Amino acid sequence: MALSMDVEPPDALATRGLAGDPEIADILLGEAARQAESLQLIAAENFVSPAVLTALGSSLANKYAEGYPGSRHHGGCELVDAAERLTIDRAERLFEAEHANVQPHSGSSAVLATYAALLRPGDTVLAMGLPYGGHLTHGSPVNFSGRWFTFVGYGVDAESGLIDYEQVRELARTHRPKAVVCGSIAYPRHIDYAAFRDIADEAGAYLIADAAHPMGLVAGGAAPSPVPYADVVCATTHKVLRGPRGGMILCGEELAERVDRAVFPFSQGGAQMNAIAAKAVAFREASTPAFTAYAHQVVANARTLAEGLAAEGLTVTTGGTDTHLLTVDPTPLRIDAATARGRLGAAGLVLDTCALPWSDARGLRLGSAAVTTQGMGEKEMDLIAGLFASAIRGADAERRVRDEVRDLVRGFPPGGVTPTDPVSGLTV
Ligand SMILES: Cc1ncc(COP(=O)(O)O)c(C=O)c1O
Repeated sequence: MALSMDVEPPDALATRGLAGDPEIADILLGEAARQAESLQLIAAENFVSPAVLTALGSSLANKYAEGYPGSRHHGGCELVDAAERLTIDRAERLFEAEHANVQPHSGSSAVLATYAALLRPGDTVLAMGLPYGGHLTHGSPVNFSGRWFTFVGYGVDAESGLIDYEQVRELARTHRPKAVVCGSIAYPRHIDYAAFRDIADEAGAYLIADAAHPMGLVAGGAAPSPVPYADVVCATTHKVLRGPRGGMILCGEELAERVDRAVFPFSQGGAQMNAIAAKAVAFREASTPAFTAYAHQVVANARTLAEGLAAEGLTVTTGGTDTHLLTVDPTPLRIDAATARGRLGAAGLVLDTCALPWSDARGLRLGSAAVTTQGMGEKEMDLIAGLFASAIRGADAERRVRDEVRDLVRGFPPGGVTPTDPVSGLTV
């Protein structure tokens, strides 16, 4: 796989030590070039800082550390204990939580451990239905959640696309779930955590917030926090938060031991200490004023993109967004979502399809986190909306749009080439 010649060579970090393994080195270089030459509009993606990459590729990758700080099954854990304590401390401060578990290997692992801490197989759980934006871990039949628990799905209002809190309340009254889950992969609006708390209390249920998507906005003060309302908050540390791929769980002191035991030894083995150190780095970065400005810019950019796409004739669900993500229906432009995603991908706009609240047809999901990390602002979002509409409209336009996308991204390299992070301003 050849590296395109018209982009800056990717950073040496991407291939360090791989001179003897050209097959993998080529893939790393090719992927770095792909990311630098196209627009990353996948709502769950972002560019991590050089410091996060350094921690991920550090000596901590070699260390086995089953258990928790001060109580490990392996020797030599003094320094990784210090790393995990620091990560926990930073997570608790950043999100104002009484207790943090930073070991989950992924968002799904965090949800699994949360269910294990609070539920028994066969219990009833009320969560957003998958056709409306629920995650696989919210009751999909192909996932542990759907296999081991009885899920009841709530939807969104077909007209407005908004959560119908009265419908959620009625379902909770009827089914008396053991837990209510709020959180989604495609809901573009703020969630009313107080309303969910009230519904869960009335049903005598736990409230679980799966805040994988908004957690970075919460860190930057650009979205309300679920922490004061939910019994347990689970989240990913990637996405807007800009940490390594991984998960975390936040809860009050009273559930801390149950949550910890549900992660290790119930559902995981050794902690990935390099990823945990990388989470600490990301939490420090996310506590800077520069990150607060970033989080607000992410939302401003998503709003501008939504307005631009609406002006181009696409239907934006819920009429806009409060967050980093938006979902649109391309059918007013006489194209289905799968064909649109293909055309957009060929033109260098990389995004996902998603469910639509009002039909069986699919829509398109976009996010502004990665392009905002690159330094793009509202002016560039207007440009992207125009490029998006041109690429969707005609096969002939793909090549021209591809060139325009390359010109645009050339001015906004995705980072990783200097030790200073463009978002937090911190240096490795
Ligand atoms: C709401 C929600 N929960 C859970 C997950 C799972 O995260 P992971 O892919 O790290 O397992 C995601 C990932 O997108 C998510 O959006």
